[in-house]
Amino acid sequence: MKTTYRPLVQRAYNLGGVIKSLLLIALIVGLMTTTSARAAGGSISKSAYGKTADGIAVDEYTMTNANKIEVKIITYGGTVTSLKVPDRNGNWASIVLGFDKLSDYETMSPYFGAIIGRYGNRIAKGKFTLDGKEYTLAVNNGKNTLHGGKKGFDKQVWDAKPIEGFGSEALELSRISKDGEEGYPGNLTVKVVYTLTDKNELKIDYTATTDKDTVINLTHHSYFNMAGNGSGSIDNQILMINADKYVPIDDGGIPTGDMTPVDGTPFDFRSAKQIGPAVRSSDPQIINGRGIDHSFVLNRTDDKSLQMAARLYDPASGRTMDIWATEPGLEVYTGNFLDGTLHGSSGGMYRQGEAICLEPQHFPDSPNQPKFPSTTLKPGDTYTTSTVFKFTTN
Ligand code: GLA
Repeated sequence: MKTTYRPLVQRAYNLGGVIKSLLLIALIVGLMTTTSARAAGGSISKSAYGKTADGIAVDEYTMTNANKIEVKIITYGGTVTSLKVPDRNGNWASIVLGFDKLSDYETMSPYFGAIIGRYGNRIAKGKFTLDGKEYTLAVNNGKNTLHGGKKGFDKQVWDAKPIEGFGSEALELSRISKDGEEGYPGNLTVKVVYTLTDKNELKIDYTATTDKDTVINLTHHSYFNMAGNGSGSIDNQILMINADKYVPIDDGGIPTGDMTPVDGTPFDFRSAKQIGPAVRSSDPQIINGRGIDHSFVLNRTDDKSLQMAARLYDPASGRTMDIWATEPGLEVYTGNFLDGTLHGSSGGMYRQGEAICLEPQHFPDSPNQPKFPSTTLKPGDTYTTSTVFKFTTN
């Protein structure tokens, strides 16, 4: 059953009497107060997507803006399952990898399109100490914890509600991550708002509060291919990253603790360049990551405002995505572990290097890295961070 929150800009037809027309107008106004409608041509609609293995209902929301950009989001993991933008010739394609059914997202997703937390990226050996107390997390990635553990935020069903906006459609997702969930301290109240604007931006605003000292590092994990989902390698796509330094890792993806200049390395994307040659370098760090799977230290003038982080461009189609972030770091992952075993929404199998993740966030293993910006959240403080993906064609 599809509930459509569409602009109800309709004439009140004469139904044989002024009273009936007035009643009809009253009905339309009433409906508009329960739907997130606006005159400018955007819309948000909801449909049932499926039920999890535990029997929890999952809904899918479809947002379109006045320029017909479309994003689909399911309440399982707050996952973006489709993001359709045009190329320079007006051909539309989704630029994110994903699946066609919920059970695939539940059983085999490498975090396609999901909200990641409580702590995105890795924590060494699944342990950290906070206020003198050691916490032990699930070890789900080699010897380390990745992306919030065995059942992180990407595997939770979120509450959702559409939000009316002028010049935008928005979906508010919320949940409470209970004290001790996946080993983290504190009842964490989290809200994530996806906003699709008529300026062709997909904005993600995160807020959270806690009743105990805890650690938090939320991010979004779409796999982007600007030529279109399932179109093959991103080798020829052009990437710019606004970062003079990056964070070297060991062979398990844990930072060495350094922040190393990109100068003279394959990690120098300060001038836009093709992705392919960089991920084929024999640089030991590329070997450690089996491509790029590293955090970049973004050049920032302050630690709060939205600043330019990266640009991804496909010369063949002209599709371009700019990323603005408030975070200090950008995790870049060039789909190194896609191995032809995942049958995607493209109708085909996904292979290594078919997409790139660009995840604004704090740095990996920060709770164990005193030199890195803190990821501790205390009662009374509010965690806030924002990311904007802006779409154009060139
Ligand atoms: C993050 C990690 C990668 C990989 C992906 C998911 O990007 O840094 O190593 O685990 O998640 O597959």
